[in-house]
Amino acid sequence: MASQSTTVENQWISKRFLFGTKLPIVYEPVHEKPIENFTDWIRTHQKEWREDLKNHGAILLRGFPVHEALDFQSILYATEEKNLGEFYLGTSPRDQVVKHVFTASELPPHYPIMQHAEMSFLDNPPKLLFFYAEKASEFGGETPLTDLREVYKEIDPKIIKKIETFGIRYRRRYDGPSKKSRFSLWKTKRWDEMFGTTNLEEVKKIADQNRFQLEWFGKDSLTITNEQSGFRIHPEANTIAWHNHSQTFHHQAAVSEVWKIVKRQKTIRSLGVAILLTLLTILKRLAGQKSHDVHVTYGNGEEISVNEMKSISDVFWKHMVAFPWQTGDVLIIDNFSVSHGRLPFTGPRRILVGWSD
Ligand SMILES: [Fe+2]
Repeated sequence: MASQSTTVENQWISKRFLFGTKLPIVYEPVHEKPIENFTDWIRTHQKEWREDLKNHGAILLRGFPVHEALDFQSILYATEEKNLGEFYLGTSPRDQVVKHVFTASELPPHYPIMQHAEMSFLDNPPKLLFFYAEKASEFGGETPLTDLREVYKEIDPKIIKKIETFGIRYRRRYDGPSKKSRFSLWKTKRWDEMFGTTNLEEVKKIADQNRFQLEWFGKDSLTITNEQSGFRIHPEANTIAWHNHSQTFHHQAAVSEVWKIVKRQKTIRSLGVAILLTLLTILKRLAGQKSHDVHVTYGNGEEISVNEMKSISDVFWKHMVAFPWQTGDVLIIDNFSVSHGRLPFTGPRRILVGWSD
């Protein structure tokens, strides 16, 4: 992949773009310096990097001496963000590494993770999202990015109108602690893992704070329903972005994704996954929406059709940029403007994550 555009010299940090697109902007050191010099730079150049983040949506920090989770966390501290994440109310299975740093996802390597803004189904999703490539994979495993402001402009106006009118409704079903395994095919974690507790009063409290409606069923299984507007206005830039989890929660989304991945990765495994997932999705569709463990509809309960979902996926893939990770890379994402996902990979890979509310 060729890197393009001009290099802008600014003291000891240079800036450039990958792919000739403006997402992400890449910062690289011109001279080798210890991590402390870089965290000082982040701390003292708030206006400059925040302006770049606002305009481009993501900054890739490449070539800095970020060797472990604590170095990464020192960058999070240097941003002086007030509320660094410690409690994760999202859908991926994650492990805490140090106070504000988690593994990005413990989902198996062949699972694709579709484009989404982090925790967009919450009233207050993270403002900034940080990834760190502790170990880049040998093949695949990119964290593709998409500018959600561009997506909003290009989605079929009929879909935009329906979301404007009705919003988006999510319904997710989770097993409880009586089920020992961490994830099944259509479920990514258990509710006790998500809420971080088995105390039902505590679960109810967190649910109320987030406007989640809870319905218990079976031994200790749980259905969570909630609604969101589906778009979000950037608190500082005032721009509007597509901001919902239709891409990850709709049964059609994964199928559209895996066939696009077959074209991109051209591997036997991706073809196998695509065929298997297509068959399973047909069975799932035949079983009806009541059988879906995650389900997304318009806010009035109307289904988002398969064709509508395909058209949404096409817009994402048109604007998506995917660059191979290099070990030591750090990525800062404006979660109100840019979505992320994960392509399947082989070989060892460890990507860590942090965020600020
Ligand atoms: Fe995510």
